[in-house]
Amino acid sequence: MKAVVLNGYGDVEHLELKEVDEPSPGPRQIKVKVAAASVNPVDWKIRRGDLRAMMPIHLPVILGRDVSGEVIAIGAEVREFKVGDRVMGLVEHGYAEVVVASVEAFALVPPEVPLPTAAALPLVGLTGVQLVEEAVRAHAGERILVTGAVGSVGRVAVFAAKRRGAQIIAGVRSRQRPEAKKLDVDEIVALDDPQELERLRPVDAIADTVNGKVMAALLDRDKVVPGGVIGTVLQPPLGAKEQGLRVHAMLAHPDSAALAGIAAAAASGELVIPIGRQFPLSQAPAAQHVAEAGGVGKVLLVPSLRRAS
Ligand SMILES: NC(=O)c1ccc[n+]([C@@H]2O[C@H](COP(=O)([O-])OP(=O)(O)OC[C@H]3O[C@@H](n4cnc5c(N)ncnc54)[C@H](OP(=O)(O)O)[C@@H]3O)[C@@H](O)[C@H]2O)c1
Repeated sequence: MKAVVLNGYGDVEHLELKEVDEPSPGPRQIKVKVAAASVNPVDWKIRRGDLRAMMPIHLPVILGRDVSGEVIAIGAEVREFKVGDRVMGLVEHGYAEVVVASVEAFALVPPEVPLPTAAALPLVGLTGVQLVEEAVRAHAGERILVTGAVGSVGRVAVFAAKRRGAQIIAGVRSRQRPEAKKLDVDEIVALDDPQELERLRPVDAIADTVNGKVMAALLDRDKVVPGGVIGTVLQPPLGAKEQGLRVHAMLAHPDSAALAGIAAAAASGELVIPIGRQFPLSQAPAAQHVAEAGGVGKVLLVPSLRRAS
C-alpha cells in the first residue's frame, strides 16, 4: 500500500509518499480502507520536532490520527464491526491507503454523514467533548469561555458545553467575529482586543484550546472567578494554580461510545466541523502547509484523489 512517511524532523520535504507493507489486523483489530484522513495540528507539531521531548517517536513514521473508510478485514475476536461497515476512528498512522487499529478506536458512520466529513471528527470531536466533560466538568448555568471557539476543537467544546446547559462565551480573534456569530453561543469576545477583554465579566471556567499569551492576558485580568476551573488541551497556563484556580490539562483518548455520540450529532446537524481543501496522499506536503497556515475548514488527505480540490 501507499503511505506518507515522515523521515526526518523539519519542513514538509520530510514527508514522502512510499510503498510500505500493508498491516494485518490482530484478534481485536479491524483493517480499514481509508476514504479520508484529516490533518491535525499535532501532525505538523510532530513533523517540526516541537513535541520531541513530550511525545518521543521513532522515525520513520506514518503520521495521522483521524480516518474514515470501509472495513475490509476483521480480527478473529471482533464482534462490533463487519466487512463493509463505514467507520471512523482515532488511530495512529492514518496518512495511508489502509489502516489497522483496535475496535475501541472506531465508531460506525451514520448514513447521513459523508465519509470525508467523518474523517474530520474523531480527534477534534473526542478532544472537545473530553475537554468539557472531563477537564472542565461543565455544569448547567455556568459561564464558560471557550478560547479558539471557531477552531475545530473549539467548535466541539462549544457544542459539548451547550449540551450541558452552560452559558458560552466564544473567545476568538477580532477578524473571526463573523464566523463566531454563526455559532450557538451567548457572547463573543475578541481575545486580541484589550478593551473587550477588560469588559468581559469573570467566567466560571475556561475551556482552552489556545493557551500562550491569550491565557496570560485572561489570568492577568482575573477573568476566572476565585476557585474557578481551567481545562486545557495544551500545557497548564503559567500562574493559574497560584491564583487558586483548578487546572486540568488533558490528552484525548479513544472512546467508541463518545465517538458514536459525536457521529450522531454530526448526522443530526447539531455539530458541524467545516471541511476545507482536499488533497491526494502524494500532496501531503501541500496539505500540511495549507492546514498549518490556519483558517476555517479541516484539510483532508483523500487516497482516491488524483488532484487537489
Ligand atoms: N490535548 C489533546 O489531546 C489535543 C487534541 C487535539 C488538539 N490539541 C491542540 O489543540 C489546539 C487546537 O486544535 P484545533 O484542531 O482546534 O486547531 P484549529 O482548528 O487550528 O483551531 C485553533 C483555533 O484557535 C485560534 N487561535 C490560535 N491562536 C489564537 C490566538 N492567539 N488568539 C485567538 N485565537 C487563536 C485559531 O485561529 P487562526 O486559525 O486564525 O490561527 C483557530 O481558530 C492545537 O494546539 C492542538 O495541537 C490537543
